[in-house]
Amino acid sequence: MKRAIVPGTFDPITKGHIDVIARTAALFDEVIVGVAVSAKKHPLFPLETRVALAEESLSHLANVKVLPFDGLLVDFVHEQQALAVVKGLRAITDFEYEFQMAAVNYQMDADFESLFIMSGPEYMYLSSSMVREIASLGGDIERFVPPCVKAALEEKFPRAAH
Ligand code: PNS
Repeated sequence: MKRAIVPGTFDPITKGHIDVIARTAALFDEVIVGVAVSAKKHPLFPLETRVALAEESLSHLANVKVLPFDGLLVDFVHEQQALAVVKGLRAITDFEYEFQMAAVNYQMDADFESLFIMSGPEYMYLSSSMVREIASLGGDIERFVPPCVKAALEEKFPRAAH
């Protein structure tokens, strides 16, 4: 069983994340989407909501499951007996941060494999923070997120409701 972990804060999950997860699911037997507590980032949505939105958004992918995790990613990878961690790379601006994280994880565990998948060109610019900002300012986020996430954001920012 070749298992991969796609980790992130998913605050909230976007169509860009879903694209990367679907591409990963086509390459591995099983994909675990690891939703990090990420308390330091003070997420907009509580952990349970981020997990529930990811589960609903990914329900069409039979070999994908969503689990919350706290603590180190290297420990979660061991616990889940995953072969690799897969992350999406958008523009070159992601590279430095991802390179640093991959290097640190590799230092902590030499068996830790970080794989990167290029986001589809239509999602190169997309981030959860941008989606949150657009929603908070009343913009239309339909093209960026699945319907359940749109509804959750509109509930948080009622001005965005159309
Ligand atoms: O979607 P994000 O916020 O860019 O995801 C970052 C995440 C959750 C993958 C990263 O912060 C992480 O791995 N957190 C777990 C804690 C950890 O292992 N930190 C050391 C790695 S540098």
